[in-house]
Amino acid sequence: MTAKLDVDFVRSQFPAFSEPSLQGQAFFENAGGSYTCRQVIDRLHRFYTERKVQPYGRYAASAAGGAEMDEARARLAALMNVETDELSFGPSTSQNTYVLAQAFADTLSPGDAVIVTDQDHEANSGAWRRLENRGMEIREWRINPESGQLELDSLAAILDDKVKLVCFPHCSNVVGQENPVAQIAAMAHDVGAVTCCDGVSYAPHGLPDVGALGTDIYLFSSYKTYGPHQGIMVVRRALADRLVNQAHFFNADVRYKRLTPAGPDHAQIAACAGMADYIDAGPLPHCSAGMRTGCSRHCWTISAAATTPVFSAARNSAPRPDACPPSRCIRQSRLRRSRSRLPSMASWPARGISTPCGRSGRWAAIRMQVCCGSALCITPPTPRSSS
Ligand SMILES: Cc1ncc(COP(=O)(O)O)c(C=O)c1O
Repeated sequence: MTAKLDVDFVRSQFPAFSEPSLQGQAFFENAGGSYTCRQVIDRLHRFYTERKVQPYGRYAASAAGGAEMDEARARLAALMNVETDELSFGPSTSQNTYVLAQAFADTLSPGDAVIVTDQDHEANSGAWRRLENRGMEIREWRINPESGQLELDSLAAILDDKVKLVCFPHCSNVVGQENPVAQIAAMAHDVGAVTCCDGVSYAPHGLPDVGALGTDIYLFSSYKTYGPHQGIMVVRRALADRLVNQAHFFNADVRYKRLTPAGPDHAQIAACAGMADYIDAGPLPHCSAGMRTGCSRHCWTISAAATTPVFSAARNSAPRPDACPPSRCIRQSRLRRSRSRLPSMASWPARGISTPCGRSGRWAAIRMQVCCGSALCITPPTPRSSS
């Protein structure tokens, strides 16, 4: 079956597309984030005008503010198939990993090993690498330099029972590879390790079923997923209860507060419920059943393409059947050629659109916000079970 993306509908959900001062512009801001959907903006406005008081009190404005924060956590957790108290918010994914690293440092013992990759964004790398200063051994799972891919055999070669944590990206922001999270988690669990998966580049293409993936930690950034500037963190219960509390002592018994050292941003957390509103609105006419179906995941992917695509010609020579469709990477040397393939892009300024990525600096990932001008045709996959 081929369905047509309702581009007008998608655009109508993002006020920026009808903002006069932004007309005729296309943004090439690598990883700069997505536009914000109307539902989030409306909720943010309502919070600041009607509910901007200390939440969870007994008077109407306070109760409504607290309830909206709870709603955001509950609805996003349900979309990701995890328990509500397993999801928490922080100022950004980088800050969430920073706090997590402190919690692991207090939990691990010198000599324990942590695996990081050279395919990750610094956010899921530096904080872990610095654990070396606390006596942990850091092992690097390296990409195949020819394909840019992380290979399971290379992981197997560095996994043993000293390893307590494996950190890796769900989808690489450098090469666009979608890593097999469930397999990686199973391999880590076999040696008694837990996993921390950076989903920042993946989530804009569809919130994953974290329950099915089996990873112990899943991170993504709501400002790249049509929401406000927050980092969203799932820590599964068994792990969350083992990690040393990083919050105020009086919050130690509240699972979703244990990894939030300061007071959270009430308004932005409440506004994150608008991300769930947008998902439920369903950019394709036949997709409204929610994010747990492959069908609506595809809607999300396509709407991601309409608001924050990563463009390029594929660089990998190896076949990549599992790569996220809008995520591609090009070599800097190919940049000019690729740009010239798109007539409407040819005259756009090159300055600022390419960023050396990874340790070698040989790669350039380009992310641009385009005004999605033409209708897209897609073939929805078979819906997943919505249980
Ligand atoms: C793949 C990936 N992971 C993590 C981050 C860090 O996210 P944040 O800005 O929320 O710290 C980014 C930011 O661009 C990213 O692209």
